[in-house]
This record gives sequence, C-alpha cells and structure tokens, in this order.
Amino acid sequence: MEKILLTYAPQGGFTEQAAYEIAQSITFAQCNVMPGSKVSEKDFETYTFFIIGIATLGNDSWNSGKQDADTVHLQNIINKTDFSKKTIALFGLGNAVLYPSHFVDEMGIFEQQLIAKHASIVGYTPAIEYTFKDSKALRGTQICGLALDYDTELHTSKERIGRWALQLEKEL
Ligand SMILES: Cc1cc2nc3c(=O)[nH]c(=O)nc-3n(C[C@H](O)[C@H](O)[C@H](O)COP(=O)(O)O)c2cc1C
Repeated sequence: MEKILLTYAPQGGFTEQAAYEIAQSITFAQCNVMPGSKVSEKDFETYTFFIIGIATLGNDSWNSGKQDADTVHLQNIINKTDFSKKTIALFGLGNAVLYPSHFVDEMGIFEQQLIAKHASIVGYTPAIEYTFKDSKALRGTQICGLALDYDTELHTSKERIGRWALQLEKEL
C-alpha cells in the first residue's frame, strides 16, 4: 500500500475532527491529512489512494456558489482531474435528526462527480445502521461512504470509524 491522501472540507468543525480521527485509525498505510483548499492538482496526480471527507451544509450545494473555500477548491480540482486508476473512499458529515430527507447529501453528490471522472469508489456502508428518510448518498441498501453525525450520534462515531478503517484495509 502506498500513501493515502486524506482531504476534507470545510475546516474548523466536525469534518476536520473526523478527518484526524480517521487518519489515526488507518494503521495499514501512511495517511497524510490536508484541508481541501491546500490540495493541488499535482497531489491528485501523485497519489493513487484518497479519502475525501465532506460536510453537507445545504440541500443542493454543488455549484450553488454558497460553499466554503475548501469545498469550492476541491470541486474545482475534481472537475479538472481524470481519476482513472485512482481509488477513493468518502466520508460525510451530516445531521440525520434535523435533515432526515437530505442526510449527508453532499457525499452522494461528490461520489457522482468522482465516478463521472472515472474514479473507483470503495468504503460503502450499510444504510440500515442509520435512521433517516432519504439521501443523495443512498445506493440501494448502502450509503456510498462512511456517514458521520457528530451533532446527534457522536457516541457511535468512534466505533464506526474503527470498523470502516478495517474495511478500507481490505478495499483500498
Ligand atoms: C446551514 C446548514 C445546513 C445543513 N444542511 C444539512 C443537510 O442538508 N443534510 C445533513 O445531513 N446535514 C446538514 N447540516 C448538518 C451539518 O452537515 C453538520 O452539522 C456537520 O457536522 C457540519 O460540518 P462541520 O462541523 O465540519 O462544519 C447542515 C448544517 C448547517 C449549519
């Protein structure tokens, strides 16, 4: 296993906290953590394995023009990059109690954009472990990454991250 680049957006909140907790749980590879606004096109060319974390802060935020600098920068680079032969796992911060019909939507939007740019996505998780109505990240019975709700389910997050890290060891 080569190095993994873990990038996330936005900075300063639970997404950043989760980014470092996930990086600490990855024991099978060197995991370099970088906020979204610091990632360059060269980084996306250099690495083969990525973990991308994204918070959902609105219902239809891709291209809405209201996003934070980290998210906008990540989206711009993704739009310019060909992810053929790149493998990516996603995690998403959300709140299933306040936004049950749009739980971690942004992770699903990112997944679609990355697939359109030929990325292989790994790290899907069972949706049954969460209570929500709908999500753009829902793929049949699975969610297209690790959903984390630090607002209302902080107590389960550590265990979820630990399990996901073991899953990634097999899938990345
Ligand atoms: C304005 C706003 C809109 C939000 N919209 C959603 C949403 O549509 N779906 C969701 O799952 N969570 C939503 N959330 C919850 C956030 O994703 C959650 O609080 C997350 O931890 C924020 O990331 P941060 O702590 O890194 O800033 C929203 C939060 C805010 C403040």
